[in-house]
Formats: sequence, structure tokens, C-alpha cells
Amino acid sequence: MSNNTLILGLQWGDEGKGKIVDALAETAEAVCRFQGGHNAGHTLKVDGVQKVLHLVPSGILHPSVHCVLGNGIVLSLSALAKEIKELQESEINFKDRFYVSEDCALILPTHIAIDKVRDKSEGIGTTGRGIGPAYEDKIARRAVRFGDLKDPQKLEVKLSKLVNYHNQILENLYGAQPIKYEDVLEELTGNIDLYNKYNCKTQDLLKLWIKQGKKILFEGAQGSMLDIDHGSYPYVTSSSTTAGGLSSGLGVGPRYLDSIIGITKAYTTRVGEGPFATELFDSNAEQLAKVGHEFGATTGRPRRCGWLDLKALETIVFINSVSNLCLTKLDVLDSFEEIKVCIDYDDTQQPIYKTFSGWKQDTSKARSFEDLPKAAQDYILFIEETLECKIGIVSVGPSRDQTIYRD
Ligand code: GDP
Ligand code: IMO
Ligand code: MG
Repeated sequence: MSNNTLILGLQWGDEGKGKIVDALAETAEAVCRFQGGHNAGHTLKVDGVQKVLHLVPSGILHPSVHCVLGNGIVLSLSALAKEIKELQESEINFKDRFYVSEDCALILPTHIAIDKVRDKSEGIGTTGRGIGPAYEDKIARRAVRFGDLKDPQKLEVKLSKLVNYHNQILENLYGAQPIKYEDVLEELTGNIDLYNKYNCKTQDLLKLWIKQGKKILFEGAQGSMLDIDHGSYPYVTSSSTTAGGLSSGLGVGPRYLDSIIGITKAYTTRVGEGPFATELFDSNAEQLAKVGHEFGATTGRPRRCGWLDLKALETIVFINSVSNLCLTKLDVLDSFEEIKVCIDYDDTQQPIYKTFSGWKQDTSKARSFEDLPKAAQDYILFIEETLECKIGIVSVGPSRDQTIYRD
């Protein structure tokens, strides 16, 4: 792995970013997130123990790896406090290696209330974590930011104005219960400890680390097809989940990136509403969901399942300038008689499939490309030929060691 590597999901999230970042963090010095918030659910499995991270970067299980939440994150203080507490309870140390940008826009309880009540009519199927409303306030230049916790008087002026605005939306637009200003203030002042411990000018830190030649992983959240600009709008999240989001979300220019790893499952899933060309509704869908345990790591919702869409991925690989692909959950296809991949769409936008015969063998113990059955190798080679991009990593199970490195 080269020095600075960006790791991105190429589909609608849940591609296995957490697992891969954790595995690659073994040889990294820092892992940094740059967009999204606690809508993410990144699952790590180490020594049989599973952990789901929502905000904390997936490098935290490695005791010497530094972890950063960049300015592009929308930050819920209560969610962060809860996550840190739970990790500390399992002996994970945050001291002198966890940093949060003073410029993160805060997610307030009122953002969460607006998100939930609004989604009832808009039907995006959001995670209900206040992500959209928090980014709205950021773009409209009225957000309360993490660094605002420094000055309690100024904070109160800014916060009271914002909460008042939110309560007008809740009451007048949606006929919903307002949230008491004091309760919102308490969420912030009650978590002042987070500010005292972790507040940081993270852009300065990144500049220093890059000048020092530190090996850094940048961990994307969500997936490219949920990108605010390039995803299936309006059924998207509210951040730039593609490679472009990195520079704005951390203050690291594109030339400091050495490689971009794009992760795709060996099939496709989606949580929430929106178009999904290769979605299945038959026994294959049930089999993918069952074998792949396809339930959301954040909301527990069942994930919709379908075949891999190479036509869509081709564009996504270009948008992100992916240098290396990572194919996850190959083992989930082990029991299938036939496996299909979408190679194009017809005039009515229906997928045109190429059919592969299944390998009907356990791949979960394979540790090299040569260990894989021939039919699985053919599947992998077809994907990389079609996307004109090398598949450098293949994942055959949720554990750190169930990973095949081809480089
Ligand atoms: P993320 O949001 O991209 O980090 O992905 P999630 O953690 O939400 O979902 C991926 C799920 O698949 C988690 O339950 C992982 O433990 C699991 N997983 C990751 N890689 C593999 C794999 O190669 N095979 C199998 N069977 N499970 C995997
Ligand atoms: P990770 O990082 C899968 C989806 C939601 C919804 C849409 C908008 O674990 O891959 P939001 O709450 O962000 O406004 O919801 O985006 N979504 C995800 N789907 N994985 C995620 O994160 C997601 N984060 C948001 O289901 O369709
Ligand atoms: Mg997830």
C-alpha cells in the first residue's frame, strides 16, 4: 500500500469499508474521516468480536493509529460521547490519538427531529440521524460548529437563534412538538468534555503529517451512488461521498493522494428508498440477504439485494479515479447455481445480464487468488476487465484475516 490511500464505497454503502480500513490500518499511522456523520455503520470483526463504528474511524482498534474526524463531518456530540464510552469500556484508548476538527458542523437534537418528521412525507428513507438538516445549516452558513463550544456566551446567541428557527419549522410546517432550547444547550454543554479533550485544528495536523510522510488512510462513509451530486438524487445522502469530498472535508489537496481504493460487494445492496436497476425480488434476493446478513448496521433495516451492476460501476470508477478495486463478500455467492452481472441497459433501461455458473464451493478459507475456484477467478477477472481496473483485494469473510491481497 502506498503512503496516502483513500478508501471509498462505490455502491449504496455497506460495501465492507470498515472491515477493509481496519485490515489496512495494520500498517498505517492515521485513519481520517472526511464526510457524513453517525448515519454510517462500519462493522469490524477481530478475534471473533464484532464492533460497529458510526463516527470513530475504523483505525481505532489498532492502539498506535491516530484517528481524525475532519471538518467535513457533521457531528452529534451525544452520538460521539456514547461511542467513545462504549469503546473505552472495551479497553480502547483515545488519549493523544483522537482529534476532532473545530470546524465540524454540529448535529443538534432539533436536526434529528426535523429529519424524522420530514422523511415521513418525503420518503427518502433516511437514517433519521439529522444528517440532511445539519448539512443544510452548514451550507446556509448558520451552523453551530464544534469550535463554537469555546465561548459559551457567543454559543448561546448563535444556538438560541438556530433552535428558534428549527422549532418554527417543527411546529408551523409539520405540526410537530418543539424541542426546548435548554435541552439542546444541555446536549452541548453536557458534552464539553469532548471539546476539551479532542478539539483540534485538524487541517494543520494533516499538513504536518503529510510533510512528515506519515502513512494515512482516508475512510469514506456511505457510497458513491449516495453522493449528493453524482448519486441517485434525491435518494442520496447530503454529503460528497465520492473522491472529491476528501479535499474539502479534510483540507488535503488531491495531489497528496497516492492511491484510491474503490470497494464494491460482489453483488449489490441498498438500504432506504430509490432506484435500483438490478434489484431482485425472487429467491436469489432472499438467498443474498440471508447468507450476506443484509441488515443495516445503523438502523437494522433489511437491505434490498440484487446483482452487481458493472454499467453503473464503470462511471463510478471514473468519477473517483479509482486506482485499485476491492471486491468484498465474494463468499456470499458460494452457494449460488448461477450468478449474473449487469453489463448494459436496454432501450427501456432494463439491465442486460451476463450469466456465470456458480462455483458451489466454500471460498471463506481462501487466502490467495490461486486458492479460489476457477469459476470465482473468472468472475473476478471479468469484473476487472470490464471496469479496466485491477482488483487488488478480495474479501471472503467479515474477519480481518479473511482477505486476499493480490499485489
Ligand atoms: P460498511 O458500512 O461499508 O463498513 O459495511 P457494513 O459494516 O455496514 O456492512 C458490511 C457487512 O458485511 C458487515 O456485517 C461486515 O462484517 C460484513 N462483511 C464485510 N466483508 C465481508 C466479506 O467479505 N464476507 C462476508 N460474509 N461478510 C463481510
Ligand atoms: P455506511 O457508511 C447505507 C442511506 C439511507 C438513505 C440515504 C439518506 O455504513 O455505508 P441519510 O440519513 O444519510 O440522510 O440517509 O442514505 N445511507 C446509507 N446506506 N450505508 C450507509 O452508510 C448509509 N448512510 C446513509 O439509508 O437511503
Ligand atoms: Mg454500513
